[in-house]
Amino acid sequence: MSKLKVLVARAVFPEVIAKLEQHFDVTSNPADEPWSRAQLIGKMQGMTGVFTTGAERIDKELLAECPQLKICANMAVGYNNFDVDAMTAQGVLATNAPDVLTETTADFGFALLMATARRMTESEHYLRAGKWQRWSYDMFAGSDVHGATLGILGMGRIGQGIARRGAYGFGMKVIYHNRSRLDAATEGACKAAYVSKEELLKTSDHLVLVLPYSASSHHAIGAAEIAQMKPSANLINIARGGIVDDAALAAALRDRRIAGAGLDVFEGEPKVHPDLLTLPNVVLTPHIASATLPTRLAMANLAADNLIGFLTQGKPLTPLNPAVLTARP
Ligand code: DGY
Repeated sequence: MSKLKVLVARAVFPEVIAKLEQHFDVTSNPADEPWSRAQLIGKMQGMTGVFTTGAERIDKELLAECPQLKICANMAVGYNNFDVDAMTAQGVLATNAPDVLTETTADFGFALLMATARRMTESEHYLRAGKWQRWSYDMFAGSDVHGATLGILGMGRIGQGIARRGAYGFGMKVIYHNRSRLDAATEGACKAAYVSKEELLKTSDHLVLVLPYSASSHHAIGAAEIAQMKPSANLINIARGGIVDDAALAAALRDRRIAGAGLDVFEGEPKVHPDLLTLPNVVLTPHIASATLPTRLAMANLAADNLIGFLTQGKPLTPLNPAVLTARP
């Protein structure tokens, strides 16, 4: 019997491709060529499964062109590149890669918070430029992390990881806002108190965004929200571009309406709002919160195992639309 066809849209670990090849006829992209959407649709013809990395948009229009498709496995916990409703309607399973990146991403969120609060990249640029001639009492004075109020918007697994780091490692007072309040045991384990979004904006010294992107979280932080923050506050976004109105944030940073920002994600990335690039009080990183090799390997393996589990036994590990499983003949 001929093997099912699977497409891997971007270059990934060779050992993960080799694992997929044990089960499927795999078309991969080892040169990591940037496929246009039309090329992606062309490559997906006849494919039963596709391994995506979070950038490939799987929507109604694409699905209509790929009637043979049965599963899209994202190598990312976020899946705003998937129209899950359209996939469910067409009987296509969607899977993501949760859990395996939680601690690594929480580490990075905390690192970005600290780099922003303590003005690390700004002061490094100053040093590298040969401008450091002498000590002064307020040179690159930043804000304290220990004992400060840590606000978290979006209290899923990664948000909880950041809360634990703040509460246990740095003695921070942790407050959070989420679509739904956590149970008392989880709040206790994170030493986190639930507050309204308004309270979160007004009282956080460091506000970290970890909520999923959707139409309802688009520009969840815009000019009106930033206006409610303390002038001394820092805003950290490791969630998704589009959750923050980057133009409004750049204006606020320029006018020192808040102290600083740490951004790993951007509206329209890999493009970055040009004003952000000129500002000293923002730390910018290229969407690397989950980027350690062990974690990226675990994410790639989970996406591959979802393809293998579903296509060989009907048992994916982390389905997003399990209704597709029960609807199968
Ligand atoms: C995720 O997994 O969603 C991270 O943002 C990496 O893309």
